[in-house]
Amino acid sequence: MSLRRIGLLGFGTVGTGVLELVAKNMWDRFEVTTVGVRDTSKPRALDFPSVTSNLQEVVDSDEVDVVVEAMGGLEPALTLIKRALSLEKPVVTANKELIAKHYDELMAFGGDLRFEAAVAGGIPIIQVLKTLAQTNRIESIQGILNGTTNFMLTEMEARGVGFEEMLTEAQALGYAEADPTSDVDGFDAMYKIAILGAIASGEQLDLDLISREGIREVRPGTLADASKFGKRVKLIASWTIKGGARVAPVALPIEHPLARVDGPFNAVVVRGDFVGELTLIGRGAGGHPTASAICGDLAALRG
Ligand code: NAP
Ligand code: HSE
Repeated sequence: MSLRRIGLLGFGTVGTGVLELVAKNMWDRFEVTTVGVRDTSKPRALDFPSVTSNLQEVVDSDEVDVVVEAMGGLEPALTLIKRALSLEKPVVTANKELIAKHYDELMAFGGDLRFEAAVAGGIPIIQVLKTLAQTNRIESIQGILNGTTNFMLTEMEARGVGFEEMLTEAQALGYAEADPTSDVDGFDAMYKIAILGAIASGEQLDLDLISREGIREVRPGTLADASKFGKRVKLIASWTIKGGARVAPVALPIEHPLARVDGPFNAVVVRGDFVGELTLIGRGAGGHPTASAICGDLAALRG
């Protein structure tokens, strides 16, 4: 069987994870032929012979059968993804902002577009929810969908350290977005719950209607006070079929299924009318778990 050739857009935390996973566990089925970046002179965590800043050339190349988008941002990602799909090349992306904002357009565009890595890192929630949505009326989804803020809240509570120090650590560990305000102000979690809500309801959610609050106002003292009353503060993203979506810090009773999900872990609780309640937990951020989700999409490609 011939190898499927990947054009990889992005050589940051996620792109590096994809290169590592393909080389270690999928070398018999896939190879990365070229990697697109913004700045070819930047030092990289891995040596790779073919790095270019001409992203369209990566998409168009005769040596690329499938495109993996691990850059982030709306443009040029959207144009490149649509170009690849028009060329009948499957696309795998980790870009939650793009999927949340262009869900209906991309679903209608045609072609093979997969985005497991866009929500909850290594947890295969997209695949599970798509299956459940075909058989159940999905009534609600509730989750910890941002690894950066969950890591920060966990460490702030355990060590009593402040917001800025923990954000710097989360960035160094590769959990945060290029612009970490997306994490701490709840945008990232909002994009993710919007994607899950769109799958559950069958249509794109209006982001302007999602109430959103991040963790900037949460202090170590807030967490310690909650703990005295047997509660843990978590950034919770939720959607219900009747009430829509919201993102906010919530003090959960310790017996709640999300209260003990700590560090960069994410968890999603889905309720369907036949399946009842289902909880998935796993690593929500970082190069390796995200690469696992991207490569799961690659492994599932048709043909
Ligand atoms: P990152 O470390 O900042 O890497 C981004 C990469 O994309 C860099 O190599 C950068 O090139 C390249 N890039 C960005 N904009 C570009 C442009 N306009 N033109 C050409 N190259 C461009 O980001 P990341 O953490 O890997 O995240 C990438 C994507 O995965 C984002 O959509 C993010 O939301 C998503 N994601 C991240 C995680 C995570 O844990 N980090 C988890 C799930 C999903 P240079 O290196 O030359 O600057
Ligand atoms: N910045 C994101 C997070 C990466 O912390 O959850 C995973 O999507």
